[in-house]
Amino acid sequence: MSTPMRATAQAQPNIALIKYWGKNDETLIIPATSSISVTLNEFPTTTTVEVQEGVTHDCATLNGVQLREDELGRIRTVLSRVRELAGSTQHAKVTSLNTIPTAAGLASSASGFAALASAAATAYGLDLSHTDLSRLARRGSGSASRSVFGGIVKWHRGYDDETSFAQPLGWKGPELAMVIGQLSTARKAISSRKGMTHTVATSPFYQPWVESNEHLVHRAEEAIHTGDLATLGELTELSTMRMHATMLGAEPPIRYLTGRSFDLFDAVAEARATGFTAYATADAGPNVKILTTVTDLEPIRSLLAEQYPDITFLGSRLGEGAKITVGSAES
Ligand code: PMV
Repeated sequence: MSTPMRATAQAQPNIALIKYWGKNDETLIIPATSSISVTLNEFPTTTTVEVQEGVTHDCATLNGVQLREDELGRIRTVLSRVRELAGSTQHAKVTSLNTIPTAAGLASSASGFAALASAAATAYGLDLSHTDLSRLARRGSGSASRSVFGGIVKWHRGYDDETSFAQPLGWKGPELAMVIGQLSTARKAISSRKGMTHTVATSPFYQPWVESNEHLVHRAEEAIHTGDLATLGELTELSTMRMHATMLGAEPPIRYLTGRSFDLFDAVAEARATGFTAYATADAGPNVKILTTVTDLEPIRSLLAEQYPDITFLGSRLGEGAKITVGSAES
């Protein structure tokens, strides 16, 4: 038996400013709208992929716990695509460590699948561009296509596998940061995947959401181009509310935000009125993330921590995209 091929990659979560909610293609994960996010430099996922000879199926652990058959689906989707590209029939063992609570609306699937795509490509001996890695990560989790890149990132919705990928955008404004108000670390009741399908199928607000969010993407790109943080922040809050509004219109409604989430939105608006740079957003969970600058990161974090002593507030600057930390195809 030859030495197994293995590689380890690291990737960080990203937080969407202009949101993705709804797919045009469920299998390839082609979204209905483009989206824009920032990649953090904290809370990495580290994933090792080991290609194993003589093994008949893929297996994976997450934070030391073996994943069940029904939890392996999306990992297998990514590995199968890598095998297809590499012309391999060998299966793999995946070992993944998350430093942020899994499935709590803190984008652990984004860092997870970006790290998996990068590690798997290297372990199977492929030399893919970042654009190709973004396409590959997308098949595991849409938002993962954005975590392949660092800084501010746009995911072009595209219309097929070739045209749907992320790309970094230049930013001339002040250095950005995020505060994360961790209201809950519990696994979300409805996964983003199920929530999206349900919204597409039942919300009368879905089509208007798709059309209006695409406009927000264009306006946000203009703001990014000119370094206009006030506009980018306002558009972030707008896209957030419109995304949650389309879910609230689903039947039965999907409600990820709690009263405490809204308390934090109010606290952020108040902080802004007193001169802080702070804009709130939230995803498929109650946690609230606050877009700010590196200068205001610590002041806004301690202000909110003082007002809400029972909530954990974490800070992060923007970080890099996915990278290989250990390994090569022949190691
Ligand atoms: O890619 P998923 O299935 O983790 O969906 C992400 C959806 C949101 O986080 C709510 C929005 C976004 O654009 O990240």
